[in-house]
Amino acid sequence: QGLEPQRRSAVELVVLDEVDSTNAEIVRRRPESGAGLVPVCIADCQTAGRGRRGRPWQSPRGQNLYLSLGLTFRGSFAMLDGLSLVLGVAVAEALEQQGVVDVGLKWPNDIFIGGSKLAGILVELQGELEEGVVQVVAGIGLNVHMKEAAAVDQSWNSLAMAVPERRWCRSELAAALINSVLRAVDEFAEQGFGGFRARWQSRDIFSGKALVASQGTLAGIGRGIDDSGNYLIADGEELVKVRAGEISLRVQ
Ligand code: BTN
Repeated sequence: QGLEPQRRSAVELVVLDEVDSTNAEIVRRRPESGAGLVPVCIADCQTAGRGRRGRPWQSPRGQNLYLSLGLTFRGSFAMLDGLSLVLGVAVAEALEQQGVVDVGLKWPNDIFIGGSKLAGILVELQGELEEGVVQVVAGIGLNVHMKEAAAVDQSWNSLAMAVPERRWCRSELAAALINSVLRAVDEFAEQGFGGFRARWQSRDIFSGKALVASQGTLAGIGRGIDDSGNYLIADGEELVKVRAGEISLRVQ
């Protein structure tokens, strides 16, 4: 699809005790193009963690994983369609490698387990680093030890609650996530979204369910994604395509 990977040869890891948002920290540490180093930031807590659609992301100290990566691509933003779904697949696969079973994906890229949200991903497009080189910040929030949380506005889960028989180590999880994300992003940059469609779809929690769109403007049965990562909803005979960012979907 014309995206060229930017040699992701090593990571430059910054571990902070506290930060406003690890995504914001990556933006402040704008990488030098071509250095081949992927800036990665992990914090023990965030004072202004941000989620999708302008929502806050609860980030209590010492409990969860708050991790962001700065990813550069040769190409244009238009070529990055599908990247957020690719990241969802990468996080799901990393968790499965760690022995977690029945990991689900809620379009576009929420990670679910046992019917509630375990992790969220925030992709923020930064702009052109130089002519033809675009930068994206990918932030992952994974609930690890959290058992109680104030003001989370949706049903949530954590590894400690979903898999209580295991002792969870945040640094091991961080290493698994970073490796899986970098592998997936290189594959995406070299080969496009094609190889991810089936990997995303096999974990789709909406498939075959009666869905309704956020504003109630659309209802139908979930039918998975197309080649670009748009969600497909069957409304009678008609197959309606929903683009990420346009609308949010929930089970009716
Ligand atoms: C969502 O709304 O589901 C996305 C949540 C993303 C949260 C992570 S935590 C690490 C990174 N820093 C942030 O401020 N947000 C992301």
